[in-house]
Amino acid sequence: MNKRFFFATMLTGIFCISGVLIAGGKGPENIDLKAKYKVEATKPAVVFSHHKHQAKLECTKCHASAEGGKLKFEINNFAGVGNDFHKTVCWPCHKEMNVPKGTVCASCHK
Ligand code: HEC
Ligand code: HEC
Ligand code: HEC
Repeated sequence: MNKRFFFATMLTGIFCISGVLIAGGKGPENIDLKAKYKVEATKPAVVFSHHKHQAKLECTKCHASAEGGKLKFEINNFAGVGNDFHKTVCWPCHKEMNVPKGTVCASCHK
């Protein structure tokens, strides 16, 4: 095996492995929050576009650490319009960042 070929193969290997690690660490592409939190919903379930949000935001905007996992929000109340997803997770950031239609019901409940 010539040297150049050896290094090229090694580099490709390293890129593949880190690619898999990064992809694996990003968590699910979309997350059905109604199912995940077992919400007794009156409105259509909210499917959160996780990867779309990752494209715009640092992991630590939502997670306690950059690896993901535990969220930095306390989410205990799931009932009514005053629920914690609205109050502490989704709406404050949408307002702060002026997300178009960021608090319009049908943007999330479809
Ligand atoms: C930015 C996203 C977002 C917007 C905008 C939003 N919601 Fe929600 N809402 C959620 C999430 C997430 C949940 C919890 C998961 C679920 O119920 O699917 C939830 C839960 C609820 C619940 C409690 C569960 C249920 O279905 O009864 C009600 C009621 C509700 N929303 C009403 C509304 C109304 C009314 C509006 C418009 C004024 C609205 N939501 C706008 C994200 C949103
Ligand atoms: C806008 C908010 C937001 C951002 C930004 C975000 N996530 Fe998440 N992530 C969530 C939510 C919500 C869940 C659903 C799990 C939950 O509710 O506990 C989740 C779940 C995950 C999970 C699965 C954990 C589990 O218990 O199922 C991983 C892994 C993850 N995120 C990694 C990341 C990484 C890595 C980044 C940055 C590249 C990132 N997330 C950015 C909101 C976010
Ligand atoms: C830390 C900030 C932040 C948080 C927290 C956040 N969002 Fe967003 N969201 C954004 C930004 C920024 C955009 C605009 C993305 C773009 O321009 O493409 C957006 C766009 C959206 C959109 C429209 C485009 C799409 O991706 O489908 C929906 C729906 C949405 N968010 C749902 C949610 C829900 C549901 C939650 C709570 C579980 C949430 N977001 C929490 C920042 C946030």
